[in-house]
Amino acid sequence: MPGYAFAMPRDSAIQMGSIMIQRATLIVSFTLVLASAAAVARQGPDGAAISSAHELATEAGAEILRQGGNAFDAAVAVSAALAVVEPESSGVGGGGFWLLHRSADDRSVMVDGRETAPAAATRDMYLDEQGEVDRDRAVNGALAGGIPGAPAAWVHIAETYGTLSLSELLAPAIRLAEEGFPVDAKYQALLNFRAHVMLRWPETAAIFMPGGDVPAIGDTIRQPDLANTLRTLAEQGRDGFYRGDVARKMVEGVQAAGGIWTLEDFADYEVVEREPVRTEYRGYELITAAPPSSGGIAIGQMLEIVEPFDLPGMSRADRVHVLAEAMRRAYRDRALYLGDPDFVDIPDGMLLSEHYAAGLRTTLRLDRATPSSMLAADPDRLGAESADTTHFSLIDSQGNMVSATLTVNLPFGAAYAPPGTGVLVNNEMDDFSAKPGEPNAYGLIGFSANAIEPHKRMLSSMSPTIVVGDDRTAVLGTPGGSRIITMVLLGVLDFIEGNGPESWVSLPRFHHQYLPDEISVEPDALTDEEIAALEEKGHTVTVRNRTWGNMHGVMWNRRTGDLEAAHDPRWNSGGAVVIELEH
Ligand code: DON
Repeated sequence: MPGYAFAMPRDSAIQMGSIMIQRATLIVSFTLVLASAAAVARQGPDGAAISSAHELATEAGAEILRQGGNAFDAAVAVSAALAVVEPESSGVGGGGFWLLHRSADDRSVMVDGRETAPAAATRDMYLDEQGEVDRDRAVNGALAGGIPGAPAAWVHIAETYGTLSLSELLAPAIRLAEEGFPVDAKYQALLNFRAHVMLRWPETAAIFMPGGDVPAIGDTIRQPDLANTLRTLAEQGRDGFYRGDVARKMVEGVQAAGGIWTLEDFADYEVVEREPVRTEYRGYELITAAPPSSGGIAIGQMLEIVEPFDLPGMSRADRVHVLAEAMRRAYRDRALYLGDPDFVDIPDGMLLSEHYAAGLRTTLRLDRATPSSMLAADPDRLGAESADTTHFSLIDSQGNMVSATLTVNLPFGAAYAPPGTGVLVNNEMDDFSAKPGEPNAYGLIGFSANAIEPHKRMLSSMSPTIVVGDDRTAVLGTPGGSRIITMVLLGVLDFIEGNGPESWVSLPRFHHQYLPDEISVEPDALTDEEIAALEEKGHTVTVRNRTWGNMHGVMWNRRTGDLEAAHDPRWNSGGAVVIELEH
């Protein structure tokens, strides 16, 4: 099981290959790139662009833009549609970070809709009588769920930044829930992982695996209960989910299945607006995720460490070495210092400072890997986390932008939906450290700054990012658990080196996260010679048998007004579109 969540199993990768070929033409015809040749900088782009993990969700966003909605309206519509058609990755019962940039006043904000620990949560709630972590309870079923943040975030974004009504914004999602959507290879592959757990709750299984079987590709999944839940939210706003009938069904269903949610937890849930992390790299400004994401700080720190190096001028092996050394150091600090900023003091000024990066750089040798064991860290405080999630990027014709990464954690979350709601409970509680120093489901180790406490937000790696330059602006992000951060780093570097979204989303990926002390690489990402050169420097290189991530990016050329959108070729379910709009 470790590692599965970063991508697909080997069998489905093979299966996916043929499906990819069949669907490639569809995607290409869905992607238009506008031609424009104005020589001067423009106010806004020529149209709008959306890239999400599902064509139907991208279409939902396009529909809202055509109705005159702005990027924030479209973001709510895309999020809600993803909750319906990509239930393996995000949902009404999950959470996420929505990074917004409003062009009118040049304001950027991160809407933190991360789940919170219920009030009755305790530090040791997943330990058994022997003091060992009960992995089953930590990820499967009602006890694994944090209090959902996604619906509150949608309402907040719609009311604060949108222009259309919540009913208009949720209409495409409600329609998709009622009419159904066709099963694709990603849904099928990820359900294969979770089917044995989901079958413990026949009412839940009846929704996502009708007849008790993993559905065939093309079968229709209808979600009438979810449609009703969404309709109540559309009609009543926040209270439609967090109070009243839906909240009661969610809480009663969770309690009946062994969970500890209360109506008060629902009523108490609050979205938090946070200042994004901002850093600069070679003339570009990065606007990225703030804690409780670890991503923005880690990306800023890695860029600061590598800035003096001529990365484009290096051999590939040297480039991978320098980046892996930066990754190793940033992930060490992630483990030591990061957690929910409302509970933990985070030395962000230090971590992002040039001086601190310069200090770390002095221990970085070009000819040798630094063993992680030589970088001091309290072993009781080392960590990372787990998996399944979604990301979308969009930009409207005014230059408003949204970069959003959303999650239920593992595929199909906790695999349990309280009866009558259609809402899958997340298993985000596993992003906390269930026991200091103990590995989680993926062999990763947790740490005490991220211990469970009532109302606390669990540390995340989700790193929605916007990169602003004089000439070009990028909006990007990806799922992929602890690997999210290094994928976004590689994407940002590729953009700054002059490439567009087709390139960022399809880059071969490599990753180092301090512990385990290895560079893990996608199949075929490095040649045998490059691997040998890295091993020569003392690295352990592990070639995985599967790819990871599902990156979705859009780019705006500020000089010409042109837009580009691209979806990750690894999962071929994405929808990337550039839309011409009357404006
Ligand atoms: O918040 C986090 O960091 C994780 N729950 C994200 C999991 C994830 O990206 C899985 N994707 N494949």
